[in-house]
Amino acid sequence: MENSRPIGVFDSGIGGLPIAKQLRELMPNEDLIYVADTGFAPYGEKSEAEILARSIAVVEFLLSQNVKAIVVACNTATMVSIQTLRARYALPFIGVEPGVKPAAIHTQSGVIGVLATEKTLSSRAFDALANRVAGNVQMAIQPSPKLVHLVENLQLDYAQAAETVAHYVQPLLEKGADTIILGCTHFAHLAPVIRQVAGEGVTVISTELAVAKETQRRLATAELLNPRVQMGCERFYTSAEIAKVTEQMNRLWGCAVALEAF
Ligand code: SIN
Repeated sequence: MENSRPIGVFDSGIGGLPIAKQLRELMPNEDLIYVADTGFAPYGEKSEAEILARSIAVVEFLLSQNVKAIVVACNTATMVSIQTLRARYALPFIGVEPGVKPAAIHTQSGVIGVLATEKTLSSRAFDALANRVAGNVQMAIQPSPKLVHLVENLQLDYAQAAETVAHYVQPLLEKGADTIILGCTHFAHLAPVIRQVAGEGVTVISTELAVAKETQRRLATAELLNPRVQMGCERFYTSAEIAKVTEQMNRLWGCAVALEAF
């Protein structure tokens, strides 16, 4: 049946896992296929042509697994590739945009800070997004490449990450930001440290729940929701050496996962 097919989810690595977890919570009966393109991470340090080529390679793999929709669980790939993917393939694509709109509604100081990759912040898609709220709020942007490396190296607790987080967050606070957007899915893994470093008066906005809800809405509109009541299952793939990624996956998914190569 069309709607019993799995949902594909991909990221340059483990950044998309918080989104996959939200999908699992919201739609427990759906099957998920998660691809960590760790062999080619970080996307934020690649050219647009390389990011697009990787996005297409992963999408072709997911299509070979018969997915019914694809969540591009990576801000950089969304910004660079999603328009081309939507034009090229007929299935629904759900992307991850930095939560500029909720941040603009929430801010009291009128300054919102954005932590993201250089590629996301310099993309035309981000420019268009920023222009939509320009006038109402001031946006302070902060490329944060080292945060992606912290996450991929599982340096996620306060002692390991606070200094690097402060290096990126402090300039945003100095510009008056009272609301900080996590504009890279990897950063959700560092959200507790970012909140602690930013302090109580600052709201940190992450988008995984919004993406999961949007995925559910898009599947419902396309009549692709799975009607069965039994729990769905997950399959995990990586483009890197499996032994290298296993610890990351197990720790961040919360149980032992059977990783396969793609
Ligand atoms: C990266 O691979 O550099 C991070 C990707 C993202 O923007 O989520």
